[in-house]
Amino acid sequence: MVTITTTQKTLTEVDKKYCRVILTEDTTDYHRLVETASGALEYRLGAGKRSDMTARTYRTLVRSIVQAAKSHQIEHLAIHLGPMGCTELEALGEEWYFRTLAENLTLASYTFTTYKTKQKKDRVLKEIVVCGVVSKEAKRGFASGLTVATAANLARDIANTPGDDMTPSKLGQSAKQILGKLPVKVTVHDEAQIKKLKMNLLHAVGKGADDRPRFIVMEYWGAGAPTKTKKAKPQIILVGKGITYDTGGLNVKPAGGMHDMHMDMSGGAAVIGAIHAAASLGLKQNVIGLIPAAENSISATSMRAGDIVTSMNGKTVEILHTDAEGRMVLADALTYAQKYYQPKVMIDCATLTGASLVALGQHASAVLTKHSDLQDKLVALGEETGDLVWPLPLWDEYKQHLKGSRADINNVAAPTSRFGGCIEGGTFLSFFVDKNVPWAHIDIAPRMTSIPSDKLTKGATGEPVRLLVRYIERA
Ligand code: BES
Ligand code: MN
Ligand code: ZN
Repeated sequence: MVTITTTQKTLTEVDKKYCRVILTEDTTDYHRLVETASGALEYRLGAGKRSDMTARTYRTLVRSIVQAAKSHQIEHLAIHLGPMGCTELEALGEEWYFRTLAENLTLASYTFTTYKTKQKKDRVLKEIVVCGVVSKEAKRGFASGLTVATAANLARDIANTPGDDMTPSKLGQSAKQILGKLPVKVTVHDEAQIKKLKMNLLHAVGKGADDRPRFIVMEYWGAGAPTKTKKAKPQIILVGKGITYDTGGLNVKPAGGMHDMHMDMSGGAAVIGAIHAAASLGLKQNVIGLIPAAENSISATSMRAGDIVTSMNGKTVEILHTDAEGRMVLADALTYAQKYYQPKVMIDCATLTGASLVALGQHASAVLTKHSDLQDKLVALGEETGDLVWPLPLWDEYKQHLKGSRADINNVAAPTSRFGGCIEGGTFLSFFVDKNVPWAHIDIAPRMTSIPSDKLTKGATGEPVRLLVRYIERA
């Protein structure tokens, strides 16, 4: 754990044990570690021209500072980034500037060492102090940034945990444990309750595993819980895919495609993180998190290709491909949301398709919605937070491909094609959402694991926790 704090002091006023970060106007490949006359260490880092900086390069710069400190085995780091000096950043304001600083220091400081037997104690980054934090806006921004990114790091811990240690029941326990100290009500429905609720798609996906499916419900009534006499204000519903391991089922995945599939609950982890942050910040919104959790496993009791299942909303689904399990579990969760709550908006996050990576590469998640204002908002908030999302269409033209022959709809297009797989996933979900409910589907498979240019440790990214929290704050 790296301790991240602020001080009103300037760089020269802090103790000599701190390595001081000095930004220069050199190009971003310039970096030098030097010892000053007083014996303190100074890390000089090229940041390019201040006036050229953008929100994107600023976030990367902040992360690079932490990465450099880690690789130089610096234990105590002091940073003073000074004034924004750039119109783009100035337009975003001081609160944003310091929030973004805190978020990215926290995200870049994260490491996942739970399974390392030799825990390093020396020469690892222990402390970062940010100098020159004086104004109220700066302090407020910094504090909320720490809260949001700490929640994102919790989501990364959950996602990075191997499938054997993060089964559906353990995911339910984690949600209870992580949210237990906050004003959040967590209910974990077990297999019998899932059957009683007629969430048969969720049940079908999870029935091949030893650890049976769970349905996790998290309620944060920041705008007031319903009472006997008073209805609650409509809720923001967040749905997260909770496949704790995806073998592909009987349509088993090829060997090379399976090793990261313990992260197939990244959407669910992000929802836990977002609710954690919303409750910690005391946001005045009602937020409901739903995680259909199941292990897509292989056994004699697994669902079969060709099986027909009646979904919670009554539509029948023919399973043509057992590896298209995410959309099945999400469909029942979306139905549940509309049956038991009053959604103001629904956003689901899911590592749903490999096709989303084919479409976008690994720099942005895909957002699919019929509500253009919601789409614009999510794209803009992605830019503001760094959890980038980019639209793909959700047009009715795509619906015909899922029309069933033996049942109402198929879970994949028949005949199978390599085209438009991400849209097909979103289209399947659209069959389970009332036209009048504003809903967006975010396929986060592209952002499931970090890439080198993210300047984050390998593994889960914790996206899109920042985006979801900002959405709740602005709703
Ligand atoms: N969890 C996978 C999608 C995935 C792949 C996420 C790679 C992250 C990285 C999902 O359940 C899946 O298997 N999707 C299939 C759908 C297909 C059978 C229509 C896919 O993408 O191949
Ligand atoms: Mn799958
Ligand atoms: Zn999956």
